[in-house]
Amino acid sequence: MTATTAPAPQAARPAPSPTAKKLSGKTLKEKETRWDKRAAWFLAFVTTVIVVGLWALSAYKLDAPPLGRGAQGDTVVGYALGILTLVLYGVVAAYSMRHRKRVQKRAMTRTWMEVHLAFGLVAGLAAVLHSGPRLLSAAPLHGAFLVAWLLLIATGFFGKIIGVVVPRRLTRIEDEALLAEDVTEKQAAMRKQIEELLQANPDLAEYANTTVPKAIKNPQAYGKRRMKRPDVIEEVWTQTNGPTAVAADKQDTAKRLVTCLVEERFLEQMQGYHWMLRAWVPVHVALTTLCFPWLIVHIVTVFLL
Ligand code: HEM
Ligand code: HEM
Repeated sequence: MTATTAPAPQAARPAPSPTAKKLSGKTLKEKETRWDKRAAWFLAFVTTVIVVGLWALSAYKLDAPPLGRGAQGDTVVGYALGILTLVLYGVVAAYSMRHRKRVQKRAMTRTWMEVHLAFGLVAGLAAVLHSGPRLLSAAPLHGAFLVAWLLLIATGFFGKIIGVVVPRRLTRIEDEALLAEDVTEKQAAMRKQIEELLQANPDLAEYANTTVPKAIKNPQAYGKRRMKRPDVIEEVWTQTNGPTAVAADKQDTAKRLVTCLVEERFLEQMQGYHWMLRAWVPVHVALTTLCFPWLIVHIVTVFLL
């Protein structure tokens, strides 16, 4: 439409490249997502204010002694907070399950992830205030349920922190972005190379199996130099007295071994980081699954027993 009404000088301009169009579209989407994220946290904040307000109303006015027994699960506010927790569980968990089925992978869209984080935290607070708060004095079954619920929230919270901190550390020690499977493959290749070098040079076994591993530090301990692998290799080579400790005709092989061993140590660390990124998820999901029947048991027991 703009093209037909555009003045002549504009028509002379080169048409925007498809990449530029793609980029601007992406940027717009990023902006949009940012607003969605803010909206999610704002709504969660409003819900938090309502939850705390309702609880304070119950604890200090409606159910305050001698009028009542204080804030409890079976007061009007207690029921409201219990039901709200149930609804929040539905929103937070149902989306995850649906998404999992549809996309066949764990990554969630950024906006929904934000809803998940923000409202997941509110669900934790709402459950605590619904109980009174009463944890140690709560009947064992209800108390244990609250503990399981808080563990669910806590695993999610720590998982989120891991998801922010670990990738940064990971990119600082990897030459290229690798999947966990690629790291395993590289590790196997590196080990094979070390074994082959040692088979051909058995006199370097002591140097490669004892001296070098002792000299290699934790990758993070190399500070900024961890990004420059040749510097780390040089440091290990010097620290192990490579130039004097190894026979002149074996120096090249020994240095190759140091390179492989340093690489292997870094790969091991990468594998550790990949493990951290994944390990908490099954616990978080298992707790989600556990809390569902437990919610039903809780509701049945508080009404029937
Ligand atoms: C994740 C959700 C929930 C958690 C973690 C939770 C946890 C608890 C805890 C720890 C108590 C205190 C028990 C005691 O003082 O002995 C409690 C009490 C109670 N909850 Fe829940 N609750 C949840 C959801 C619900 C829902 C959805 C309802 C009903 C609609 C409900 C109804 C009650 C009632 C009626 C009580 C009072 C029971 C009594 O004092 O014996 N709760 N809840
Ligand atoms: C009512 C509370 C919660 C429930 C029921 C719940 C449930 C789930 C489920 C079922 C998944 C797996 C999603 C999938 O594989 O598609 C998941 C993922 C996740 N949850 Fe929660 N969650 C809760 C609270 C939280 C909280 C409070 C946080 C953090 C503040 C959190 C952080 C995460 C993260 C980061 C993932 C993504 C894991 C990944 O990278 O695959 N969750 N949650």
